[in-house]
Amino acid sequence: MKLITAIIRPEKFDEVRGALESYGVQGLTVSAANGYGRQRGHTEVYRGAEYVVDLLPKIRIEVLATNDQVDDIVDVLISSSNTGRAGDGKVWTVNVDEAVRVRTGERGNAAV
Ligand SMILES: Nc1ncnc2c1ncn2[C@@H]1O[C@H](COP(=O)(O)OP(=O)(O)OP(=O)(O)O)[C@@H](O)[C@H]1O
Ligand SMILES: [Mg+2]
Repeated sequence: MKLITAIIRPEKFDEVRGALESYGVQGLTVSAANGYGRQRGHTEVYRGAEYVVDLLPKIRIEVLATNDQVDDIVDVLISSSNTGRAGDGKVWTVNVDEAVRVRTGERGNAAV
């Protein structure tokens, strides 16, 4: 299993969520985030205004995936969140040792 984390533009969230649901992702965690990349937030435009602060509002999406789903889900995240402009975000994966569905006690891939 892997945990996929994606930092995306807030205005892209509905599209990204729809693409993930179409693929078949059955759960995700979303949270508000603030951050910056190589431009340090200075040269990005958000909702028509150029931000003059260092931290830009982003959305963090976390998806727990089985190993055979990871590449596809990363592709879905990238294609649905990409605008081609600076600030589109970042996607990364980390290995996950264990997952448990609390209600049933299922573990591993069965818990994803
Ligand atoms: N190295 C990093 N570590 C953790 N989070 C990051 C990192 N780089 C970017 N992020 C997060 O992703 C958001 C968007 O980053 P961004 O798309 O600007 O990356 P970038 O590397 O500057 O690419 P680009 O040149 O396309 O803008 C940042 O606001 C931050 O929240
Ligand atoms: Mg950037």
